[in-house]
Order: sequence, then structure tokens, then C-alpha cells
Amino acid sequence: MNEPILEVENLTVQFKRKTKLFKAGREQERWKKVLDSISFNIKQGETFGIVGETGSGKTTLARTLVGIYRPRECRIRLNGKHLDLNKKEDVLLLRKNIGIVFQDPVGSLNPRVTVSEIISEGIPDQKKLSERQMEAKIMEASELVELPGSKLESFPTELSGGEKQRVSLARTLVGGKKILVLDEPTSSLDVSIQAQILNLLLRLKNELSISYIFITHDLNVIKHMCERVAVLYYGQILEQGNTYEIFEHPRHPYTADLIGANLSFTSNDGFSAARESGEPSREGCIYQNSCSKKFLQCEKPPPTFDLGKTLVKCWLYDYAGGDHGESVDGRNGGSNGASD
Ligand SMILES: Nc1ncnc2c1ncn2[C@@H]1O[C@H](COP(=O)(O)OP(=O)(O)OP(=O)(O)O)[C@@H](O)[C@H]1O
Ligand SMILES: [Mg+2]
Repeated sequence: MNEPILEVENLTVQFKRKTKLFKAGREQERWKKVLDSISFNIKQGETFGIVGETGSGKTTLARTLVGIYRPRECRIRLNGKHLDLNKKEDVLLLRKNIGIVFQDPVGSLNPRVTVSEIISEGIPDQKKLSERQMEAKIMEASELVELPGSKLESFPTELSGGEKQRVSLARTLVGGKKILVLDEPTSSLDVSIQAQILNLLLRLKNELSISYIFITHDLNVIKHMCERVAVLYYGQILEQGNTYEIFEHPRHPYTADLIGANLSFTSNDGFSAARESGEPSREGCIYQNSCSKKFLQCEKPPPTFDLGKTLVKCWLYDYAGGDHGESVDGRNGGSNGASD
């Protein structure tokens, strides 16, 4: 059986922000919760999508999963082993296993070093390897991502956007990482180049049996790439499960609004301009201020209901009969990981 290789439970991330209450007043420290009790899991060879509009917390999630941010709360298991992200060795283990490709290849590649040196950054235990072994690994990784050998001595400024993203990928793959977090990996590229990179990612996934956490605001990319998807709204997963099921039968009113809004394929600004929305609610259901299906119960935080192929955080599915589901996390508004 294909067990999850990564299990994330109740991941909560908050940032400190300084505010001045009065003009002459002292600065006060407040916390802003950017991810709120999110849970999901990923299996080997699977692509799990995270879709959400701008500011929903996608990049924060990506950075937390590679140990850049420390969560306030989280239970995380990697290949069945529980990790304590307060311990340095566990964070190192996380980084050894999970790689990241950022949206902006320009900002993530050091312009002063050659492509070959950039790729070599991803090789663990370099001191144990001879120069020849290092070169062989760099060549192998560049071939995997279809980067011509002639580019290895180039500098990032001499490469096209697509080539830069191939270098980022090679740097991640050269260390043998089995899970990649892809944070909008194609949104800075021209449409034709986007397609090339997406196809390369599909091929690599099949050949190497790696898993992707594919982060994007682009619903078409989700449909093309992901077996399962989670819909993120202001730090909460409102619905997750089988991609086909979610697109064909969106259960959460927010998901239905997103899909119904027929959002732009090329926009890099997120969805918010495409539909009218209220502010996220601080109490009860976070979507209630924009929801056309709101009713009295929505004043309370909804739990996540298991509808079989999808998990939905919405009181509509608390009804007995019809489309009802079973709460997977009690009545406290948490969420749980979906599986097919
Ligand atoms: N280091 C930080 N310190 C304080 N607040 C932050 C930090 N990083 C992100 N935020 C805030 O967290 C929220 C989520 O940001 P994040 O970058 O994760 O969103 P996103 O979904 O990736 O958006 P986009 O689609 O625009 O890339 C935003 O309100 C942002 O201002
Ligand atoms: Mg982002």
C-alpha cells in the first residue's frame, strides 16, 4: 500500500507585527496568524496542489515545509517518523528530504556564480566526494532537466527564464530529494515555456517517483498536474481531495465561487479582482462574509467533514441525509488530511 511520505497536521504559522496604538504610544507587538491548523498528506509519486488567491499563505506554507519558518504548532511525519521542528537535527532532516523551487528564478540564483556551482550547492556531504564524482553528479542532474552541458559554465544572467528554472530544479534534484515544493514554478514564464517546464516536471515525477507539492493560483495548471488539491483561503484549507471531484462537484461555496469565476490563466495577481468578496471573518466560518449560502450555524467555526473523496470545512455538510459527511475533527474547526 502507498503510505503517505509526508503527513502534516494542524500546521499553524503566525508572524509578529509591530503596531502603534496611538500616535505617541509605544509600539505593541501583535501576532498575525497566516496559516491556521492546516492538515494534509502526500504519497510517493503524487502531486498535491495548493491553490489559493494572493495572500492566502501559499509561500508561507512552502517556506515552512523546508524549515525556513518555524511553525507555532504542527505535527509532521516524514516517512512515518515524527519530526520536532524545534530540534535542529529534525529541521536538517526536513531540508535533506524536501526541496523547494521558487517562483522567481532570478532572485533564487546567485548571479555571481556559474550554473555548475549553483547546481553543486544541492549536493550533500560534498567533502566526501572527489571532484570527478561532483562533476558526474552535476552532469547527471543537468541532463535530467534537459539543460545543455554548454550552459554549465554560464552565469544566471546569460540564461533564459525557462533555463533558470531548470537550474533551480537541477539544484534540488542533485541531492536526491524525493519531495519538491514548487511555489508558482512557472508563473514568471511565457506560456509556451510554461508548458515545457510543466511537461518536464511530469516526466521527472514519473521517472524518479518523486512527489510534488504544487503551489499555484492557476486552476488550469492544477487540473493538468495534480491528483489531489487543497483550496486555501486566508490560511485555512476549506476543501481538499481528488482534483476531478473538486472541479466537477465543488462542495465548499468558496471553491464553487473560484471555479465559477472562470479565473484568468495568465494573471499573476491572484483571484481577488475577479469576484466581489467581503473581508474574511475573524469568528465562525472564515468565508461567511462572502458566502451566498450563509446560515445561522456559520457563526460557529465549522469542523471538517469527510465526504469520501473530499474533505470540506463547511456547516452545509452537517445535515443528516443527502450530501452529509462525517466530521473528522470534532466540533472545533480543525481539519484533517484527505486520502483517496
Ligand atoms: N515574513 C513575514 N512577516 C510578516 N508577514 C508575512 C511574512 N510573510 C508573509 N506574510 C504575510 O502573510 C500573508 C500570506 O503571505 P504569502 O506570501 O504566504 O501569500 P501567498 O499566498 O504566497 O501570496 P501570493 O499569491 O501573492 O504569492 C500575507 O498577508 C503576507 O503579508
Ligand atoms: Mg506566494
